[in-house]
Amino acid sequence: MMTLLNVDHEKCKQDGLCANDCPAGVIFFKPGQYPELKRGAEAMCLRCGHCVAICPHGAMDHAEVPLVDCPPIDPALSVTPDQAVQFLRSRRSVRRFKPGPVEQADIQRLIDIGRYAPTASNAQVLRWLVINDKSRLDALAGQVIEWMRAVVASGEGVTPYMPVVIKAWDKGFNPIFHTAPCLVVATAPAGASNGMIDISLALSYLELAAPQFGMGTCWAGLLQYALECNPKIKTAVGIPEECPYHYPMMVGYAKARYYRLPERKPAVITWL
Ligand SMILES: Cc1cc2nc3c(=O)[nH]c(=O)nc-3n(C[C@H](O)[C@H](O)[C@H](O)COP(=O)(O)O)c2cc1C
Ligand code: SF4
Repeated sequence: MMTLLNVDHEKCKQDGLCANDCPAGVIFFKPGQYPELKRGAEAMCLRCGHCVAICPHGAMDHAEVPLVDCPPIDPALSVTPDQAVQFLRSRRSVRRFKPGPVEQADIQRLIDIGRYAPTASNAQVLRWLVINDKSRLDALAGQVIEWMRAVVASGEGVTPYMPVVIKAWDKGFNPIFHTAPCLVVATAPAGASNGMIDISLALSYLELAAPQFGMGTCWAGLLQYALECNPKIKTAVGIPEECPYHYPMMVGYAKARYYRLPERKPAVITWL
């Protein structure tokens, strides 16, 4: 019978690594015995896969994080510290994109990578919306601009950037999406205790992955503000009512190429 944890007694070396590393403390282990799930602890298991990941012998299988779906880490693909720093520092917001739609398979690949970002309690409740149609994005940007015009006219809730954005739009430039042909929106349902954080982390993974596939991204903050203020725009984007957490990101094939790593402000740290 397949239980939540299944230990292959042929492969298990009874080293207790899984029990020692389990963040929920639900694995019972005594030297000389095989590890097993503590009685009644099934609900407390985070389904995080640490037990499968830490076993060097491939002896641990998890019913919901199957060993067969957990490929071994290939040391040949490890990055050096310098490579890691350059990879992270070379991330840039891309605002100039090649024209034309994005291949659906390329968007799917980025979203799939976003799934590997951590989520609070390993909840993994994010849902994704994709608008891969420039004409729809132009129409959506127009709707945001009309809302901004109404806000400016009312004199209430006007932000300093609104008149500038409207002026740019009137000159034929799209300051909401720049030249992006595609918008990816990460959303989370009302019950998600850390919805915005989980969304931000997943989008960060997506953003970091994108350049490796010739793509670029930019956080669509102007649209986000409009979504927060105007339910009609939220409906136009297709965000379900039961998803109070959301953030949109522009996606496309990057036109710009960068050659340097701009410096940031020094970190402000309080060492206690
Ligand atoms: C917003 C957030 C809060 C978290 N808080 C805790 C925490 O308080 N204690 C903890 O042990 N892990 C915490 N985690 C880690 C998650 O449990 C972990 O990301 C998840 O189980 C997936 O495992 P992984 O990060 O090893 O892939 C948190 C993760 C996130 C994203
Ligand atoms: S999946 Fe995570 S929480 Fe569950 S038993 Fe394995 S290590 Fe523990």
